[in-house]
Amino acid sequence: MSNYIISPSILSADFARLGAEVDAVLAAGADWIHVDVMDNHYVPNLTIGPLVVEALRRHAPHAFLDVHLMVQPVDALVPAFAAAGANLIGFHPEASRHVDRTLSLIRDHGCQAGLVLNPATPLCHLDHVMDRLDLILLMSVNPGFGGQSFIPSTLHKLAQVRTRIAESGRDIRLQVDGGIKVDNIAQVARAGADTFVAGSAVFNSPDYAATIAAMRAALDG
Ligand code: DX5
Ligand code: ZN
Repeated sequence: MSNYIISPSILSADFARLGAEVDAVLAAGADWIHVDVMDNHYVPNLTIGPLVVEALRRHAPHAFLDVHLMVQPVDALVPAFAAAGANLIGFHPEASRHVDRTLSLIRDHGCQAGLVLNPATPLCHLDHVMDRLDLILLMSVNPGFGGQSFIPSTLHKLAQVRTRIAESGRDIRLQVDGGIKVDNIAQVARAGADTFVAGSAVFNSPDYAATIAAMRAALDG
């Protein structure tokens, strides 16, 4: 069995039918559910709060909820998202005054912790926290919207982070988010990613199962 994880972003789902959309994408073979939380401050868009995560947790008790916080400040919202049922919480270092403290807060609330780097955010933000991370997310678009095009410089960055993870000897997932499609997922995996967020590619497709199966075939091919 491959070690790849596909995490469809509900940002591109039909919000009027969110529970059914989550059911459908899980039945179609999604491993995780990616929840994009935007605050109209750190990013220019406004989306989902802890109440929605709590409702999804009740609706899909066994789903792995991969919560991507694009909010500033971060710390005040961590306990609410953890209590709502997030399994993993990721945040952007620029949005936290004390990154190490935020990582501890996430862990102390029983969640896995992720650090998210924008396309222009340097890798030095990983320097002193590798031992605290369960996941590193490299953004392959600028955060704020679904449906943008993959930024090619991410490939080189993925390779660099993959090396760092190997050197750390730790079991850290390397996630990529933005512009992931059936036709580029294999190349992104070759660069080093093992965990893939896909929003519009899945939810704007007519057949979620066929799209996820095509992604897996590309990954395993
Ligand atoms: C962007 C979000 C992404 C986005 C991905 O800020 O973090 O998760 O929804 O959407 P696609 O796959 O359409 O680029
Ligand atoms: Zn995201």
